[in-house]
Amino acid sequence: MKSLATMKSFARTQGRAGLLAGAALALLAASVSADSITRTPFGKTKNGQAVSLYTLTNARGAQVKITNYGGIVQSIRVPDRQGRLGDVVLGFDSIPRYEKDSPYFGALIGRYGNRIAKGRFTLDGETYKLFVNNGPNSLHGGKVGFDKRVWKATTTKAAHGVGLALSLLSKDGDEGYPGNLDMRVVYTWTDDDALRISYTATTDKDTVLNPTNHTYFNLAGQGNGTVLDTRMMINASRYTPVDKTQIPTGALALVAGTPFDFRRPHAIGERIGRPNPQLLIGKGYDHNFVLSGSGLRLSARASSPRTGRVLTEYTDQPGVQLYTGNFLDGKLKGKGGKTYATRGAFCLEAQHFPDSPNHPEFPTTELKPGETYHQTTVYQFSVR
Ligand code: GLA
Repeated sequence: MKSLATMKSFARTQGRAGLLAGAALALLAASVSADSITRTPFGKTKNGQAVSLYTLTNARGAQVKITNYGGIVQSIRVPDRQGRLGDVVLGFDSIPRYEKDSPYFGALIGRYGNRIAKGRFTLDGETYKLFVNNGPNSLHGGKVGFDKRVWKATTTKAAHGVGLALSLLSKDGDEGYPGNLDMRVVYTWTDDDALRISYTATTDKDTVLNPTNHTYFNLAGQGNGTVLDTRMMINASRYTPVDKTQIPTGALALVAGTPFDFRRPHAIGERIGRPNPQLLIGKGYDHNFVLSGSGLRLSARASSPRTGRVLTEYTDQPGVQLYTGNFLDGKLKGKGGKTYATRGAFCLEAQHFPDSPNHPEFPTTELKPGETYHQTTVYQFSVR
C-alpha cells in the first residue's frame, strides 16, 4: 500500500477529483492498517537483566502485550459488543511486582504445570526430587520455573498476524528435572483476534514435561469485579477429583449430576458455593477436566453477559485446569491500580493431567531424546 505522503502528493497533482480519491485512500489506509509488533524496555529483573515488552497489534487494532520475563501475557485488549477495546487479563505494570507478588499472572509454566505429589517422581528407575512449594507438593515448576526466567525473544511474521518466538535452555538438573531441555514457545496474534500458543521442546535425556500458560481472564475487563456471572462451557464429561492436597486420586469421575458438568454453559457462580467436597478442597473450581476427543479441538468457551466478549479455547492437550481465582484475596493491586477480587478471573490451563509422572494410568508426560514435544493452544476472542 502506498504511503500517506505519496497519496497526498498524488492528490495535489490531480486536482479536486484526485483530492477526494486521495482522502478516500488515506481513510482506507487508516482503517486497514497492517499488523505490527513493537518492542519497548520493561525494566530490569532483580538480577539486573533487562527485559522488554512486545506489543502485537493486529489489523483490527486489537492488541496483546507480552514480556520475555516469564513469557508473560501482560495485556490483551479486545473489543466488547459495542466495539470498545478493553484489557481482559490480570497483571502488573512492572517487573518487580511480577517478581514479588504474582500468582503466575499470564506466565508460561514449566517444566511441569500443576502439581507433582510430594515433589518426587521415578523415571527409568531413578527418583528425582523437586522443590516443594505448595503444601507437601511441587507446583508449577518449582522455585524458579519458566515463569521466572528471562526468555530469548525474536519477532516473527505470520500469514495473518504477528508473532513472538521465545526460547530458553533449561539445563540438566534445573529444578531437579533431568535432561537439557530446549524449550521454544511461539505466540501468534492473528487478524481475527486469536492468540495461538505453539510449544516445542527437545531433550538429551529422558524427562517429563507439561508446559502451559497461566493467563487470568476477566472478560468484563481486568479488575472489574468477579467472574461469577461468566458463562462457561467445557468439553469434558469427566474430571480428575483430588485429595485434600489437590493431587488427583486417580479416578476419572463423571461430571454428570455434579457442579463440574459444564457440557452446557453455566454461570461460574451458579454452583460454586455448593457444599460439594471437591469444591470445598479447591475453595471453588481448581480442577483438571478430561477433555473429550483428541487433536486440536474445542476445549472451552467463556462469555461475559455484561460485555458480550467471548473467549473460545482450542487445544490438543488431554486436559484443562479450570481455576477460578479462588486464592485472590482482593488485596492485590494490579495494572492501573485496579484491585483483584476473589474469583476476579478464571484460568483455562491447557495441560496433561496433574501428577501424571506418578500416575502410569494417565496419558504420559515423558519426553525422550530424539522426540519433539508439541502443543498448540488457541485463545480466540469474539463478541455476541
Ligand atoms: C493453579 C493451581 C491453583 C493455584 C494457581 C495459582 O491453577 O491449580 O491451585 O496454585 O495455579 O495461584
